[in-house]
Amino acid sequence: MSKVLIVGAGGVGGVVAHKCAMNPEIFTEILLASRTVSRCEKIQAEIRELHGREIKVAALDAMDVPATVKLLKEYQPALLINVALPYQDLVLMDACLEAGVPYLDTANYEPPDEAKFEYSWQWAYQDRFKEAGLMALLGSGFDPGVTNVYCAYAQQELFDEIHTVDILDCNGGDHGHAFATNFNPEINIREITQKGKYWEKGEWVEIEPMSQSMMFDFPGVGPRKAYLLYHEELESLCQNIKGLERIRFWMTFGDEYITHLRVLQNVGMTGIEPIEFQGQQIVPIQFLKALLPDPSSLAENYTGKTSIGCLIEGVKDGKPKKVFIYNICDHAECYKEVRAQAVSYTTGVPAVTGAIMMLTGQWKGAGVFNMEQFDAKPFLAEVSKQGLPFEVREL
Ligand SMILES: NC(=O)c1ccc[n+]([C@@H]2O[C@H](COP(=O)([O-])OP(=O)(O)OC[C@H]3O[C@@H](n4cnc5c(N)ncnc54)[C@H](OP(=O)(O)O)[C@@H]3O)[C@@H](O)[C@H]2O)c1
Repeated sequence: MSKVLIVGAGGVGGVVAHKCAMNPEIFTEILLASRTVSRCEKIQAEIRELHGREIKVAALDAMDVPATVKLLKEYQPALLINVALPYQDLVLMDACLEAGVPYLDTANYEPPDEAKFEYSWQWAYQDRFKEAGLMALLGSGFDPGVTNVYCAYAQQELFDEIHTVDILDCNGGDHGHAFATNFNPEINIREITQKGKYWEKGEWVEIEPMSQSMMFDFPGVGPRKAYLLYHEELESLCQNIKGLERIRFWMTFGDEYITHLRVLQNVGMTGIEPIEFQGQQIVPIQFLKALLPDPSSLAENYTGKTSIGCLIEGVKDGKPKKVFIYNICDHAECYKEVRAQAVSYTTGVPAVTGAIMMLTGQWKGAGVFNMEQFDAKPFLAEVSKQGLPFEVREL
């Protein structure tokens, strides 16, 4: 019997609410709270129609810690699932500590005025969560999230030594728009336009944005060009995968997407500093977000597949070994099941799986944890059951 509070009613929040509703034996009561309550009500109506279940909704500005604490104390959930934006991570962790509620999220904290993400801010909560006897699970999406668990699984089951990891993320789908982002545009563009970075032999190596690429044949999609980006899971995996020599992250982008992004950057539309416009302060990237399609609106006509996985090289029984562990997810199938596209689905399903691990006590502890710190097997069994099965291809 577990009550859960979901914060954030965007593309990912919708999937989380649907999937919780589809698991009534675990999530006995669901409250979806977000800044704009009408978005919660839309998801509430879909869940009623598709799964015949009632969920509760509430208006909440998560930046208002006393308001969140009040809601938590009144509702008394067994877990808060944060699928709002990375800007809300710390305030929601503060509220959880004050109300004595465990915490889970899918993306690490980012300060609004600096395009920079790293775990230091959230790892700094370690002692407070430990002392409160509460668990915080960080990055329970696909990447970070499932990719961390694939690495943990490789370490536990497939290799004696892991030398290199390349995380490869491909969206081979088509939404029919000239330019759109698959999740929150502001967060997405900030991630892509910052310098690329990877970890090798104990050092971080920085490169110019999108300046390194490679072709990779993605199962279910085919050959695509992937660009080296910095991604947050590198920061924890380089500490938790023993003997690792190098870890990198790659994401595919089509030429059309890159051209649009370059133009937007060149004219200053991706800037995060406010500018004066007709007597008002506006942040260019926030204005751009208002012009772009809402990521959740892409779902209805999306076709094609995502293919995301970890290419891992190392040694097993004295012999070199190379595997690709991956999932393929179909946009149109996701829409049929939960009215979402595959990028939201591949984030929301692992968030619900992480929640199941915590609520059933299969993953437990006091403090702040990354996904690879727990036993990979129960998570992979559950995430497969929930809609994201995995394959291991020996190369
Ligand atoms: N790990 C992964 O694999 C992965 C992949 C994709 C995305 N993500 C993460 O998933 C999260 C959600 O992404 P998304 O695509 O669903 O974004 P989205 O569609 O923009 O949804 C975000 C939602 O959060 C709400 N929100 C924003 N500020 C809030 C506040 N102060 N209080 C309460 N609610 C607030 C928004 O409310 P409004 O409706 O009022 O704007 C919106 O409904 C992001 O943190 C993203 O970085 C992780």
